[in-house]
Amino acid sequence: MGNNELEAVLQAADAKRAEYQAELCELLRIPSVSAVAAHADDVRRAGRWVADRFERMGFDCELVETGGHPIVVAERCDVPDAPTALVYGHYDVQPPDPLSEWITPPFEPTERDGNLFARGATDDKGQMLTHVFSAEAWLEAAGRLPVNLKYVIEGEEETGSPHLEEFVREHTDRLAADVVVISDTCQFAPGQPAITYGLRGVTYFELRLSGPKQDLHSGTFGGAVLNPLNALAKLLAAISDEKGRVQLDGFYDDVVSLTDAQRSRLADLSFNDESFRRKVGVKALGGEAGYSTLERRWARPTYDVCGIWGGYQGQGAKTVLPARAGAKISFRIVPNQNPDQIAASLRRFIEERCPPGIEFELETFHGGRGVLFSLDSPYMKAASRAIARGFGREPVYIREGGSIPVVSTFYGRLGADTLLLGWGLDDDNTHSPNEKFSLADFQRGIRTSACLWHELGRLER
Ligand code: BES
Ligand code: ZN
Repeated sequence: MGNNELEAVLQAADAKRAEYQAELCELLRIPSVSAVAAHADDVRRAGRWVADRFERMGFDCELVETGGHPIVVAERCDVPDAPTALVYGHYDVQPPDPLSEWITPPFEPTERDGNLFARGATDDKGQMLTHVFSAEAWLEAAGRLPVNLKYVIEGEEETGSPHLEEFVREHTDRLAADVVVISDTCQFAPGQPAITYGLRGVTYFELRLSGPKQDLHSGTFGGAVLNPLNALAKLLAAISDEKGRVQLDGFYDDVVSLTDAQRSRLADLSFNDESFRRKVGVKALGGEAGYSTLERRWARPTYDVCGIWGGYQGQGAKTVLPARAGAKISFRIVPNQNPDQIAASLRRFIEERCPPGIEFELETFHGGRGVLFSLDSPYMKAASRAIARGFGREPVYIREGGSIPVVSTFYGRLGADTLLLGWGLDDDNTHSPNEKFSLADFQRGIRTSACLWHELGRLER
């Protein structure tokens, strides 16, 4: 019986394909850019849109105020013996800049070649909605859900989820679940779906150096007064060596080394350095010595300067000794590195090396830990069966280098593993101009999600 019922749900989902796309477009038209204060009303409008969607489906739903952008919390838990899944997603988006590089405007969703182009198409409005529409298809075609569902859809993911951890801490009982489900990652390749069993964490800083009280003539003063921009360049360069090893004290102490089994699991994936090199458009790849490209991207910590400023940036030459300089610095971290310890170690590193005559300020932005899940859980197997049916192809198991900080919070607070089921593609231009999402993958995501509720509902609690 279960299978006929599921077949009816999948047919109902397919029949509504055009409506799902129209609804996704409606949400994509709201410019919910969480980082930009002028968009605060738009972010709220997007949150309201999502909450209304749940209310229309008959879910208990609340728009929870946070002091920042609101969190949509919805649930329908009326299947006593079935497990409970907690779906997490985000309705906020990254700024669309640089606007001039968009072929069609970021908040006017446009279909080209089977893809929908808009900011947030894949990250994360399109992926997130697959789990909403799948539940609705169940209710419409079967009149019931096979599993208990809770949703936490936030509006601050792209700014590091500053209020989410506190929310999870304060509402741990309300969020209790057997498994967490998130679609905010990628497939391994077009047509090759994946389950992601590991993510890197991240820790992000701004370093500001100051020297003389104002910019000086570099001929009159240079040589006798230290230049903050020179000092910054030396400090930043010293943080890693020529082998790509981070030089902060204790940086690698807690890193869980890759086992032989883990390395061979990554090596077994069909991945070609040369085509990857061509795709990103560089003459040569580079990274920490002794590791493969997938290990470097997914399982080893990194250090990157994400932005740098100071001195003269205009046309021509200006001989100046700048008064100030600064940089944005990030470390991608892996299990079991601790973001707070890295912050402390970075501060000591700079204190010890910052020359007299240069003052520094170090500001910590967001941080989150890396995660790694077991491949053996019944939930993983259920997800794998759902993907095989929804995508018509067995998933491969991958790790990814990006970060979703709340995943480790859910693991710590709820004791639940997360199923990271990405419907996106590496080249979807997330955070860049011309973000897109394949409409076929959108529909496959909805179908797979509907299958997942079926598979999870058959598991024992
Ligand atoms: N969807 C991404 C996370 C992601 C990207 C996972 C690529 C796997 C592969 C998410 O929306 C994101 O961009 N996260 C930020 C986190 C940061 C703001 C704390 C990231 O990874 O930079
Ligand atoms: Zn993102």
